[in-house]
Amino acid sequence: MILRLKGLPNPRQAEFFCSGARHTAYGGARGGGKSWAMRRKLVLLCLAHPGLNVLLLRRTLPELRENHVIPLLKELKDAASYNAAERVFRFPNGSRIRLGYCDNANDVYQYQGQEYEVIGLEEATHFTEEQMQFLTTCNRTTRRDFSPRMYYTCNPGGVGHGWVKRLFIDRAYRAGERPEDYVFIPAKVYDNPALITADPEYLRQLENLPEELRRAYLDGDWDVLAGQFFREFSRERHVVQPFDIPKWWRRFRSVDWGYNDPCAVLWHAADGEGRVYTYRELYLRYTRADQVAEKIRELSEGEDIAYTVASPDMWQKRGAVLKSCGGFEGESIAELFALSGVPLTPADNSRIAGWQRVRSYLADAADGMPRLQIFSCCENLIRTLPALVFDSRNREDAADGEDHAPESLRYGLMSRPAPGTEAKPKAERPYDPFSAEEEKGGDFLAK
Ligand SMILES: Nc1ncnc2c1ncn2[C@@H]1O[C@H](COP(=O)(O)OP(=O)(O)O)[C@@H](O)[C@H]1O
Ligand SMILES: [Mg+2]
Repeated sequence: MILRLKGLPNPRQAEFFCSGARHTAYGGARGGGKSWAMRRKLVLLCLAHPGLNVLLLRRTLPELRENHVIPLLKELKDAASYNAAERVFRFPNGSRIRLGYCDNANDVYQYQGQEYEVIGLEEATHFTEEQMQFLTTCNRTTRRDFSPRMYYTCNPGGVGHGWVKRLFIDRAYRAGERPEDYVFIPAKVYDNPALITADPEYLRQLENLPEELRRAYLDGDWDVLAGQFFREFSRERHVVQPFDIPKWWRRFRSVDWGYNDPCAVLWHAADGEGRVYTYRELYLRYTRADQVAEKIRELSEGEDIAYTVASPDMWQKRGAVLKSCGGFEGESIAELFALSGVPLTPADNSRIAGWQRVRSYLADAADGMPRLQIFSCCENLIRTLPALVFDSRNREDAADGEDHAPESLRYGLMSRPAPGTEAKPKAERPYDPFSAEEEKGGDFLAK
């Protein structure tokens, strides 16, 4: 077997390699060489321990492909065979690395009953605590010569920020957790000379980020992104299985335009009682305005859509962006949508009032159920809504991030009445047997 692994670990990566603790996290700044270290560590373990069973997980398939499948195919060209259907690298000594992703909350359960001596969780803060806890139950072995362990890489922010910070930064342990099982190795982009030499522009980009994100992504500061913006969001309470929507419910759509960033389109339906069901999403990148509009029409076939609200910048965007979308200098993206059969109405873009509106729809209505229900097929909305974090400079606003689906939701809900201001049915009077009306036999007997 010929295996020429290029590159030597920097001192932080070497520390990561040397850790055999039950849980080792390598985290902090972006570009510090975390993914590289994760891949290399797992390969070295496979080579050193014949027959080793390793699982490497990322939250989504495209990230998994970009970050691991493609680099591993290159790095292990002559050293391991790859089965694309199973997403497994097999080494001649019997070791194997299985790659997987967990897009949906329940995707982790596919690993139920399986045994992995090593589990690598890439971008661990994108996983929920329940997912991590479940995965630790698959991290076991009957071998006597190897102690099972998990390796994590992570950046601050995201839905798992809280548990990663608790275990590895704050070291605030609960009963049953042993402090000596948790090792944290901080990563800084400056630790990674390979990247700084090859791509100095990347470092400049990190240095020029807004304060909030710069402290998190460049300095690896775990306190700035501590706050999840929508703490009230709960998969159990806000996500529902799709069902047939009654024909008479009012349907409408919302669009947050993006070309390089994803364009997020949501379909909503309001029942007669002020509850909104977000029942479909379209999340596309690098797609021309007319093509997005075409897709929207296709998906809405046979549905009566009352209106479509859209980000007001769609009336301003012109020029280069527009030309790449197939339009002329003078036309706005909104016009292109209209020409393609999807007329738009500018959304109310007041951010703070809008987030407040989202919050009031996440809250319960009088019947004890949240006013907003999201169909489980709206995966990007469900993934990114709980990942929004507070903007530290303005605690009423959310920080920039992957916020396209939440923004689209905000536009959609701003087109609806604020809860509590809808036209109400006549308030019900509690039954009081001693009231004069009841004594008379009350109106209701007559009805
Ligand atoms: N020790 C190393 N030797 C050579 N290249 C490295 C090394 N560490 C990281 N790199 C390269 O630096 C870049 C950034 O590393 P990556 O692991 O993706 O960072 P992170 O996951 O922390 O954002 C990648 O191109 C990676 O291949
Ligand atoms: Mg990475």
